[in-house]
Amino acid sequence: MYETRLLSPNFGAEVLDFRLTQRPSSESIDSIKKIWAEYKVLLFRSQSVSEADLVRFSQHFGSLEIHVREEYLSPQHPEILYVSNIERNGRRIGILSDNEVGWHYDQIYLPKPAVGSLLMTDTLPSDGGNTEFSDMCAAFDALPQNIKNKLDGCLANQSYEAFNQAYSVPTNKKQKSQSPDIQHPIIRRHPITDRKALYLCPGMTTQIVGWDSTESSEMLDFLFEWTTRPEFIYSHEWQLGDMLLWDNACTMHRRDPFDPLQERLMKRTTILPPEHLAAPY
Ligand code: OGA
Ligand code: MN
Repeated sequence: MYETRLLSPNFGAEVLDFRLTQRPSSESIDSIKKIWAEYKVLLFRSQSVSEADLVRFSQHFGSLEIHVREEYLSPQHPEILYVSNIERNGRRIGILSDNEVGWHYDQIYLPKPAVGSLLMTDTLPSDGGNTEFSDMCAAFDALPQNIKNKLDGCLANQSYEAFNQAYSVPTNKKQKSQSPDIQHPIIRRHPITDRKALYLCPGMTTQIVGWDSTESSEMLDFLFEWTTRPEFIYSHEWQLGDMLLWDNACTMHRRDPFDPLQERLMKRTTILPPEHLAAPY
């Protein structure tokens, strides 16, 4: 139903004739779900929506997570997480500030991890802060068969704590207890397309469960290098009015740093899977 334009040779598409309205038709939502599964990252340009509309639109794709970082949630709409370096009344209103953010899957550390995220621009710096995505289905498909065999059936440890230490601020005691390390299969099937993807990321994956630590580090280093090769990547340069909907079951992402003297505010909703598709993949 929608016309699309590819964002990179292999994945990602701009949806050309979409206007986010308060009540999109069910045909329109169905067709977005279809192209979302097909292209993995969807770009909607020139959107201008209220927080209520953003929440309502996101809810068509699943139930929404309330992030454990309650200090960074929208005061009016707790389903929205602020990603920002802006300070008001002496405190940061959002998470992830202006530094580099390493490769990660959003909410891979949940027992039933997120399947999507929707990120809407609010305030942008004049340059920097690009967000890059890696197509983890393509990265899996291209792996040598002997590596696929070795990884088959393996679990990896996912740590939000490790990510926070490298790229974010520490959680408080309560938040820490709500986001303990967790183990998930390294190869997961996509809940909709059934395609296999590598389910690990440099920012949060610390160990292949049951492997000797040297072997685990060697394999993870190999996979981190492999999955971030240019042929698997799309880099998004933001414009005001951009809204990106990405697949959290088969793409990971990172962000470039930007000038701390400039302000950036993005508003994110996080989409959880339907119960019957949540786990074990
Ligand atoms: C996120 C995220 C990157 C960015 O919102 O999950 O990683 O570009 N954001 O701000
Ligand atoms: Mn993220």
